[in-house]
Amino acid sequence: MSISGHNDIEGLKNAGKLVSLILQEMKKSVRPGMSTKELDEVGERLFKKYGARSAPQLTYGFPGYTCISLNQEAAHGIPSPHRIIREGDLVNIDVSAELNGYFADTGHSFQVPPYDSKIISLCQYTKKVLNRVVSRLKAGMRVNEIGKMIQKEARKGGYAVIRNLCSHGVGGALHEEPTEILSYYDKNDTRRLTDGMVITIEPFLSTGDSFVVEQPDGWTLTTANRSLAAQHEHTLIITQKRPIVVTELPAIR
Ligand code: CO
Ligand code: CO
Repeated sequence: MSISGHNDIEGLKNAGKLVSLILQEMKKSVRPGMSTKELDEVGERLFKKYGARSAPQLTYGFPGYTCISLNQEAAHGIPSPHRIIREGDLVNIDVSAELNGYFADTGHSFQVPPYDSKIISLCQYTKKVLNRVVSRLKAGMRVNEIGKMIQKEARKGGYAVIRNLCSHGVGGALHEEPTEILSYYDKNDTRRLTDGMVITIEPFLSTGDSFVVEQPDGWTLTTANRSLAAQHEHTLIITQKRPIVVTELPAIR
């Protein structure tokens, strides 16, 4: 969506604050031995408490409130009573919600202790790339600058970008125009960021693979050659100056 006044900004900030809070509470609840279904239930209680709806459930009939992906799973992991979180696991929680007609989307990758420096570096670097890219966005820029920046930053850190996972327009729906904001440079993409445009930025960086493949469950996206991938995601409003970030991620580690 493109915002048309103060009410839209407030509505998006409320939705953004809620998804950040849900993500933070879920992260705090993670314990080795717990199933991803139990972790999703922590999110479910908060969706209900605040009168919000799960955006993937509402939009696509996703079988869960939030997406929880472990290790080689990069995204769209289905909460399951059989999927147990273990010590040292790389966890991605992605929370998107509709609250009073506004949609916000956030995601965060982190490791369950004990920490492995390779995984911690991947998570921290991905978060750094997200913040760096977000801080440079403003109205008038070409959309393909986003992919160019993500790709350049990823290479600098020795990582690959997952090419078939994209950032996207959000706000009035979970996924809307501009769709498919790539994580690499596409010279044929002539779209521009406009004042008031609401988008996510969500780089997926990996230790090797450039693609994810869908699993037989029809949802879970796993790296092709089992390398590790991390994602961090913000929802933001484009302005003439720095963007207004409506989601805040918990402190990493
Ligand atoms: Co998301
Ligand atoms: Co998203």
